[in-house]
Amino acid sequence: MFKKDQQQERDLFESERNFRLLVEGVTDYALYMLDPTGVVTSWNIGGQRIKGYTPTEIIGQHFSRFYTEVDRTNGKPLRALRIACEQGRYEEDGWRVRKDGTFFWASVVIDPIYEDGKLVGFAKITRDITERREVQLKLEQIHQQLAESQKLDALGQLTGGVAHDFNNLLMIISGSLHTLKKAVGDDPKCQRAISAIEGATKRGASLTSQLLTFARRQSVNPQAVDVAERINAVREVLDTGVGSAVTLQFDVAPGVWPVMVDVTEFETALVNLVINARDAMTGGVITISARNDTLGDEADAGEYVAIAVEDTGAGIAPDILSKIFDPFFTTKPIGKGTGLGLSQVHGFAHQAGGTVKVASELGKGTRFTILLPRKETATTTEDVNAAEISGSGTVLLVEDNPEVAAVSIGLLEQLGYTVRLVANAEAALRELELDGIDLVFSDIVMPGKMDGLSLARHLRATKPGLPILLASGYSDAALSVRGDFPILRKPYEIHELSQAIAKLPR
Ligand SMILES: Nc1ncnc2c1ncn2[C@@H]1O[C@H](COP(=O)(O)OP(=O)(O)OP(=O)(O)O)[C@@H](O)[C@H]1O
Ligand SMILES: [Mg+2]
Repeated sequence: MFKKDQQQERDLFESERNFRLLVEGVTDYALYMLDPTGVVTSWNIGGQRIKGYTPTEIIGQHFSRFYTEVDRTNGKPLRALRIACEQGRYEEDGWRVRKDGTFFWASVVIDPIYEDGKLVGFAKITRDITERREVQLKLEQIHQQLAESQKLDALGQLTGGVAHDFNNLLMIISGSLHTLKKAVGDDPKCQRAISAIEGATKRGASLTSQLLTFARRQSVNPQAVDVAERINAVREVLDTGVGSAVTLQFDVAPGVWPVMVDVTEFETALVNLVINARDAMTGGVITISARNDTLGDEADAGEYVAIAVEDTGAGIAPDILSKIFDPFFTTKPIGKGTGLGLSQVHGFAHQAGGTVKVASELGKGTRFTILLPRKETATTTEDVNAAEISGSGTVLLVEDNPEVAAVSIGLLEQLGYTVRLVANAEAALRELELDGIDLVFSDIVMPGKMDGLSLARHLRATKPGLPILLASGYSDAALSVRGDFPILRKPYEIHELSQAIAKLPR
């Protein structure tokens, strides 16, 4: 009998010892006991590892020291014990403090322990899940970025479609205006009315152009551009734009690489950023800088030119930062902003194979950085002037919209060309069987099996000497042209048309 008791006692001792060894040896969890008031009564190696206290330092101390000061002032530690008693368990993820004062993200469980129905203390399990939380936050951030880019893509599709139709309308208005102007003569009333329509049409064209850039459907003429030279070229415009209260600084590093972009879009983007900066401050400094930047990041590794516009203005509140690139998002009063400036910048940068980044601090200022991929060699851009260059010969016009066609014929004839019109690529090929065509001028987006671009490629192969000019309000296809064929952007004016024709290689 006595022997049996002894055996039982030894077994019990053994099992308690094992249990203690287990608890004490666990390094990934802080496992410890509190008395009913919250004073630490036991401590394991995990607790020491996670929180930094040795058993002698911490046993006898109140467990509230693991909480942040704010949590302590709010009475969180004792509330946790109360909830554990009331609900049988307390669970929480939150910030806790180590002995050295640093914070970690903890997963905490508190269980009340009863003996004969009386509360004798609490078992507390704490895990350091800082890393897991960081991974999770990163994942959430990636999801958010993805949703953001999907949203912008969807908006792009929508705006692109609307703007395309709108562009054809504008083309008709602006083209017809040219004819009207000649017809009405010197009547000042009519002239005033015409210049009002002209002004409104230009404004409409610039708005659709911003929209199309955002939608990345702007037909672009990318060319090698010397960034320093282009910044210099718009200097004066920007200077007058910002007014006298604001100082405009330039900080262009020597030897900035050339980039492959559409010059007009590039300048528009710069103007949009500078005007935004101006609007964000009553006085201060705007700095336009350009420098080379090599990114080692996996996703967008490569050589870039970073063009930044930095202001010392109001800054952008974090909660609206994710919206500023949306088309029509504006915080400016009605009539002051359309909310398309940054949409253009965003579209421009992405269409050029780059990106745009923003860093802002409320009350301090904002920095927008456009990153454009490096282009190997640069040629200088030509000066644009508004002269009409007349020509002669027969133009084959390929255009499916009859109203746009009528306008284009009018413009071409005013320039001295004879025009033959067809409505699609197949008809164009038939017309070309007959002789006498000196030049093909085709819309890119057309119904039928062959669009303008395929037609142009076909002609380049079969009739290599024939000059070809493409026109587009927008086109995804225009992207793939990438300098293969010159493209005239709709709506175009007569001098733009004449110059585009004059520049064609013959
Ligand atoms: N540099 C800046 N500092 C502070 N806020 C800015 C800055 N740039 C843009 N924003 C904010 O982003 C919003 C959107 O800018 P965006 O250029 O797209 O449109 P907008 O300037 O309001 O109108 P629009 O450019 O079409 O005339 C602005 O209304 C403004 O709230
Ligand atoms: Mg703006």
